[in-house]
Amino acid sequence: MAVTIKSEREIQLMRDAGKILAEVHNQLAELIAPGITTMDIDRKGEELIRKAGCIPSFKGYEGYPASICVSVNDEVVHGIPNKKHRLFEGDIVSLDAGVIYKDYQSDAARTHAVGKISEEAQRLIDVTRESFFKGIEFARAGNHLYDISSAIQKYVEANGFSVVRDLVGHGIGKEMHEEPQIPNYKPIGRGIKLYPGMTFAIEPMVNAGKYDVWILEDDWTVVTRDGSNSAHYENTVLITDGEPEILSLI
Ligand code: MF3
Ligand code: CO
Repeated sequence: MAVTIKSEREIQLMRDAGKILAEVHNQLAELIAPGITTMDIDRKGEELIRKAGCIPSFKGYEGYPASICVSVNDEVVHGIPNKKHRLFEGDIVSLDAGVIYKDYQSDAARTHAVGKISEEAQRLIDVTRESFFKGIEFARAGNHLYDISSAIQKYVEANGFSVVRDLVGHGIGKEMHEEPQIPNYKPIGRGIKLYPGMTFAIEPMVNAGKYDVWILEDDWTVVTRDGSNSAHYENTVLITDGEPEILSLI
């Protein structure tokens, strides 16, 4: 299916979905502390999503067993919550969540510090978030898709970190994953031209070391090959005829 332009009605539903998801993330952030388990985060996340009248989009997606992806330290994305996995002081933890509200989707991720963390880990979290904002400076009608990718890559690499190549952002709407794919590095070419009404999940995944990743035996958890820390920051974004609108942030 080609890239879709959302109607005003669809955009409103995506705003509603995004707002709910932003609130879920804000509440989950308050839970993060040494001693809680990754399963505690999933349980709370699912409860908040359902209480808001939404469906957790990840649950059962291609067999994924939970509502929230909880990825610790060298886990890049798609970490599976586990009741035996406790967070420790000094960890970093990425939470990725998606909701469906009246058939429309929103997808967002945040990386948090667990207690006091190293300066480098904090810088990784900050640079990853900042790279998203560098990227969306180019998320404007008339620009091309890879202008966003290129800006993210430049910022990350200028700060001495690397951008994961094997996973990308994506269009979003009625489906969690729609066209186009949105790399966080610049491929050859410029990518599609941007028009108002396009909705994207833009999601830099950034490694402190090299960009190579592999996948654990559980067939889900993506980890850095060199064991370095990794951070993730994602929002659902609407292209308008002016500034981009970040739907999943309040
Ligand atoms: N949020 C992820 C993405 O952006 C999807 C999570 S995979 C799932 O593509 F299986 F957990 F749903
Ligand atoms: Co996504």
